[in-house]
Amino acid sequence: MNSAHRVRLGVLGSGKGSNFVAIADACAAGRLPAEVALVLSDVPEAGILDRARERGLRARHLAPGPYRSKLDPAAEAAYVQALQEARVDWVVLAGFMRIIKEPLLQAFPHRIVNIHPALLPSFPGLESWKQALEYGVKVTGVTVHLVDAGIDSGPIVAQAPVAVEDDDTPATLHARIQQVEHELYPAALARLFTGRLEVVGRRARLRTPHSPASGQTG
Ligand code: GRF
Repeated sequence: MNSAHRVRLGVLGSGKGSNFVAIADACAAGRLPAEVALVLSDVPEAGILDRARERGLRARHLAPGPYRSKLDPAAEAAYVQALQEARVDWVVLAGFMRIIKEPLLQAFPHRIVNIHPALLPSFPGLESWKQALEYGVKVTGVTVHLVDAGIDSGPIVAQAPVAVEDDDTPATLHARIQQVEHELYPAALARLFTGRLEVVGRRARLRTPHSPASGQTG
């Protein structure tokens, strides 16, 4: 990929879109060498669609089909087609509440990334900040990871901690986690798009122009 090429992003979300806003703003400010080519949502009234349209970006609702937690095969094929027609290089999940299956994974191998509101592998799945509070951990955080066929199980790209305070409620902890998400996600994407990604087993490693050559340790 030559340096003049801005990475084209397809962003998928089901919710209010605060991570999408952080990413779109980072693109606009030049902190992220990318552009949002298309936003897709399975929820017609999702805030992420409004946030995209306010910014003059292409945004579409694409019906998910009858299932609750995944796209049905025809719907997933429609997502792939829309992303390919928009010439998307990377798919960015930003609060997309459905499991990604083979059609999307095969169309964008190691090119689908997600953000999760906990330090994986702790607290995968839904409402991870509540899981962290209920478990009683003192530190939780945020994980950016590549997407595989499991739930929040793909190779980890970046993590950042968030301290749990004694007087936290689910709402206060979630709010602090989201602040960290809004910093970590654009920064992790910038590193992904400017470095060379190697995935060996579970380990995702980024080689930047200044990092040691592959095979060296340290
Ligand atoms: C974020 O907390 C993210 O970690 C999770 O879904 C939430 C999306 O929030 N995957 P928003 O729509 O980006 O505000």
